[in-house]
Amino acid sequence: MDNILILGGDGYLGWPTAMYLSMKNCKVTVVDNYLRRNLCNQLYIYPLYNIPDLIQRTTLWHKLTGLEIKVVIGNLQNSELMRSLFNGTVKYDWAVTNQFSGIPSAVVHYAEMPSAPYSMIDYKTADFTISNNLITTNNLMWAVKDFSPDTHIVKLGTMGEYGTPNIDIEEGWLEIEHKGRKDKFLYPRQASSLYHTTKIMDTDLLWFGVRMWNLKVTDLMQGPVYGLEIEDIKVKTDENLYTIFNYDEIFGTVINRFIVQAIVGYPLTVYGAGGQTRGYININDTLQCIYLSIKNPSANGELKIYNQFTETFTVKELAERVKSMAGKLGYDCKISLIKNPRKEQENHYYNVNHKGLLDLGLKPHYLTEEALERMFKVVEKFKENIKLDIIFKGIKW
Ligand SMILES: NC(=O)c1ccc[n+]([C@@H]2O[C@H](COP(=O)([O-])OP(=O)(O)OC[C@H]3O[C@@H](n4cnc5c(N)ncnc54)[C@H](O)[C@@H]3O)[C@@H](O)[C@H]2O)c1
Repeated sequence: MDNILILGGDGYLGWPTAMYLSMKNCKVTVVDNYLRRNLCNQLYIYPLYNIPDLIQRTTLWHKLTGLEIKVVIGNLQNSELMRSLFNGTVKYDWAVTNQFSGIPSAVVHYAEMPSAPYSMIDYKTADFTISNNLITTNNLMWAVKDFSPDTHIVKLGTMGEYGTPNIDIEEGWLEIEHKGRKDKFLYPRQASSLYHTTKIMDTDLLWFGVRMWNLKVTDLMQGPVYGLEIEDIKVKTDENLYTIFNYDEIFGTVINRFIVQAIVGYPLTVYGAGGQTRGYININDTLQCIYLSIKNPSANGELKIYNQFTETFTVKELAERVKSMAGKLGYDCKISLIKNPRKEQENHYYNVNHKGLLDLGLKPHYLTEEALERMFKVVEKFKENIKLDIIFKGIKW
């Protein structure tokens, strides 16, 4: 049985990952300090519905499935807390049996501040983003190095690390020939926010750990995720197990936001020309990718990098798809091209290699009409909770 530690296990991706791996018979421990919830409260950007805390959710999970997900509540910027997860001294805040689960075979690292706009509000939010994201990653690297160098680190990166170069984007690495000699380097990165810059620095930190101390690392360059329902989870109808779902500009991802906007008649906010192209992924495929990465670990001294998305769209194409589905469901949906609050290319070349996870066996869920309709149906249930004034704030950089 795999013993998996999920850092950031209360989050949009962390909680579904915990349930999914628990259903795959892994021993799962989640760690979180509720940063995401607390930032939502501080900024008055409430999620689509309230979600129980981790103790309540894991208790319910245990009641419904008989499976245990152990919980640790705490800040992973605290190096002693991080170390306790690997050296057997951890104290669980919820567990059926309070014994140490054992050294993790893999750790999934989601515990970061994940919003580009948040990182660009002002010097304080930038400072927090940089320190939170880099300190958690550095603490993880040292804890694994000191206590369990065979633990496989699966770390979430982002496609935003590459930016939008005018050449094809490869899967993590680029072979370069210079003055008749060749070598392989990390693909050039050029972030377009301070949050994305921290993700580049994370990759550099762990690449250092791989070279210096033979750590085993997989870095998943993920595109924006959409979706809510997890199809493999049998108790998915229990709304208390839904993951956090934001529709505001800070924590909401674009497809999730557009669906909410269409339902309440708020014109879909396309920034600038809308030609910004990105690779998107359904939340069900994120879970598959994590599982496939765990099942195909890196060797000691190896950094594997995968580009984790299934299809690319421009923002305008996404808006048109959502508008079309909204029309079929009887909503009067409009698209509004607004002045771009961000500094980014609005029309650009984008051709990305993303074969690696498909070769490992990923079976993609595409953004079909059926998938969009299902998302509309789930979000509609919470229509009364949608607050118009939190949808767009226009954070500029
Ligand atoms: N959601 C996406 O579309 C997407 C796309 C690409 C990459 N990612 C990456 O995936 C990861 C997870 O993203 P998400 O959307 O689930 O974000 P999220 O904010 O919902 O999840 C992160 C979780 O980590 C926790 N956390 C943050 N700092 C912590 C700390 N110091 N100590 C303990 N817990 C801490 C937060 O409370 C939160 O629950 C992030 O690293 C993000 O950069 C996400």
